[in-house]
Amino acid sequence: AIERTFSIIKPDATRRNLTGAINAVYEKAGLRIIAQKRIWMSRQHAKKFYEVHAARPFYNDLVDFMVSGPVVVQVLEGENAVQAHRDLMGATNPANAAEGTIRKMFAESIEANSVHGSDSLENAAIEIAYFFAGCELVG
Ligand code: CMP
Repeated sequence: AIERTFSIIKPDATRRNLTGAINAVYEKAGLRIIAQKRIWMSRQHAKKFYEVHAARPFYNDLVDFMVSGPVVVQVLEGENAVQAHRDLMGATNPANAAEGTIRKMFAESIEANSVHGSDSLENAAIEIAYFFAGCELVG
């Protein structure tokens, strides 16, 4: 089915001017970028976004990293978009990511791993609504 998923190009990637290279991977794979904006997240916004990880030892570092520079938040649309996007990203830790995946090609570390993608259709809807108004999605 045609789905929508939420994506973030993280500060390590925007810093290295990789926005276009990452978008090219998505578009080549048939995912359409139906919303996109470059923002600098506030600490409050990042903490709330990653609230599910609040009890994890890496939470504070993760929030620090996500507010260390601009990010590009996106909505991607396409066939089976949630899983398709996760396949393109590769494993969370670039050391475990398969050849040809975004994290294998670009990620610096498990924290500075270049991209975020929703892990389910349900979370995709929640995450999209956290960053975009309905009228900003142009499918
Ligand atoms: P993301 O998909 O954005 O969701 C949570 C993020 O936490 C993950 O990508 C990683 O960038 C980051 N992270 C940092 N350290 C760890 C860790 N040890 N295990 C899992 N995720 C981690």
